[in-house]
Amino acid sequence: MSLKPAAQNSQPLHQTNGIALDSAYQGIDAAGWTSLFQQARKAHLEQFIADLFSGKHINNSEDRPALHSALRNLDKSPVLVDGKDVMPDVAEVWHRIEALCNKWVGVTDVIHIGIGGSDFGPRLAIEALAHVPDIESRGMRMHFLANIDTAELNRILQRALPHSTKVIIVSKSFTTLETTMNAKAVVKWLKNNGLTDSQVSKSLFAVTANVPAAEAFGIEQDHIYPFWDWVGGRYSVWSAVGLPIALQYGFDTFKEFLSGAQAIDQHFKTAPLEENLPVIMALSLLYQQEKHHIKSYAVIPYADALDWFPKWLQQLDMESNGKSVDRDGKLVKFSCPVVFGSSGSNAQHSYFQLLHQGTEIIPIDFIAVREPMSHLPEAKAHHRILLSNCLAQAQALANGKKTDNPNNTYPGKRPSNLLILPKLNAFYLGALLALYESRTAALGALWNINSFDQPGVELGKVLAKPIEAALKDGGTVQANAGIDEVTAARINLFNQ
Ligand code: F6P
Repeated sequence: MSLKPAAQNSQPLHQTNGIALDSAYQGIDAAGWTSLFQQARKAHLEQFIADLFSGKHINNSEDRPALHSALRNLDKSPVLVDGKDVMPDVAEVWHRIEALCNKWVGVTDVIHIGIGGSDFGPRLAIEALAHVPDIESRGMRMHFLANIDTAELNRILQRALPHSTKVIIVSKSFTTLETTMNAKAVVKWLKNNGLTDSQVSKSLFAVTANVPAAEAFGIEQDHIYPFWDWVGGRYSVWSAVGLPIALQYGFDTFKEFLSGAQAIDQHFKTAPLEENLPVIMALSLLYQQEKHHIKSYAVIPYADALDWFPKWLQQLDMESNGKSVDRDGKLVKFSCPVVFGSSGSNAQHSYFQLLHQGTEIIPIDFIAVREPMSHLPEAKAHHRILLSNCLAQAQALANGKKTDNPNNTYPGKRPSNLLILPKLNAFYLGALLALYESRTAALGALWNINSFDQPGVELGKVLAKPIEAALKDGGTVQANAGIDEVTAARINLFNQ
């Protein structure tokens, strides 16, 4: 692999909507790119993209489309799911979100209860947008309650003021154990703090694709914000799952967020493969995987505001494409590498040693933002240092350094992309998330994997039930059909 400077590289810099992708340090020459685009065409990537947006049932195992793009289709042009235009229902939810934003006065705390895709997106957005200089915030304390561990619940309940708290229960299925148990605990806390049944009802809201289950939980009908089974959980922040964004920063900011994603949808749908940013990102990973058998890749945003981004991306990528069989049930040679990362420059003082000198090649996506994220007098100087570190790390990884001392030698030839956002606001945050969603979908298509189901998460949930019963009963457990010898011994340790 030779890593050439941008000027000599045939596929170095691409832009859309002010976002730039520089793949010069991928070490892919002109012939390499040509063959990658040929490979993409052979895998029918263009047809896949058309099918994705047209509502074809590309989630073949669950026999449904993956149409999260309809949720950010702000011009409301018809989007058909099995012949029915879904945009009137989508727009109706937008109206209700906007109305709710204007209604919540005097709310001090919002407890958003949800996990996985019902948590990461809004949590990331609330955190990221809080850093946008001059953003208007309603100043509510947004608490995200995901973990079944009561540590999180306890921390939140100690801070929230029960009489001015609203609770949003977010679950596509409305059957997720962590979410329903946490919701029950919060309802109990409201009651224990003197709220009447009617006050509790006024405080409870739900976002779900299973409206009957939310009603059965006791949520008033007009407090339920629906989304649909054609929206995957990890693709759901664009639905009412993103309510906290609208409530905290205003409906216009939420729309900006959607519009950034919509701009990327337009790009992904229409740009030729050779100019298509998500496709180029996907192909660069594919190249490193096929050529160097990479097992993991890192994403390092040089923006503290995006510290949650790698966690969001872990679910997106690994739940979508962490599979061993293709759409036809055949074993695949390659699928999703392990994704990790955290914000720079902090990350440099943690695992960058391994990125530079470890035995594995780990491709990196560096993400940089042109504008500083504060108006402090120090902002410009600090931002220059942040950017210079980002650029320096990529260069050091690519070129390495030879010395007589093996301990001080950097092997180099470690590939990376650089993604540059003009600024970090709701529009570019939406665009960033949609870029990666499209990249994930493109990779799934290239591997011929269905990126829209997650069967692998079920077995552990099933096995947890008899184990929980055994922990509850106490006493000594023998191995049985649902509990093997190792686990029986472990249960007995806890039951001692
Ligand atoms: O168990 C995995 C998962 O199903 C994710 O796909 C999903 O985002 C999360 O659980 C939460 O699911 P729900 O929104 O239905 O509560």
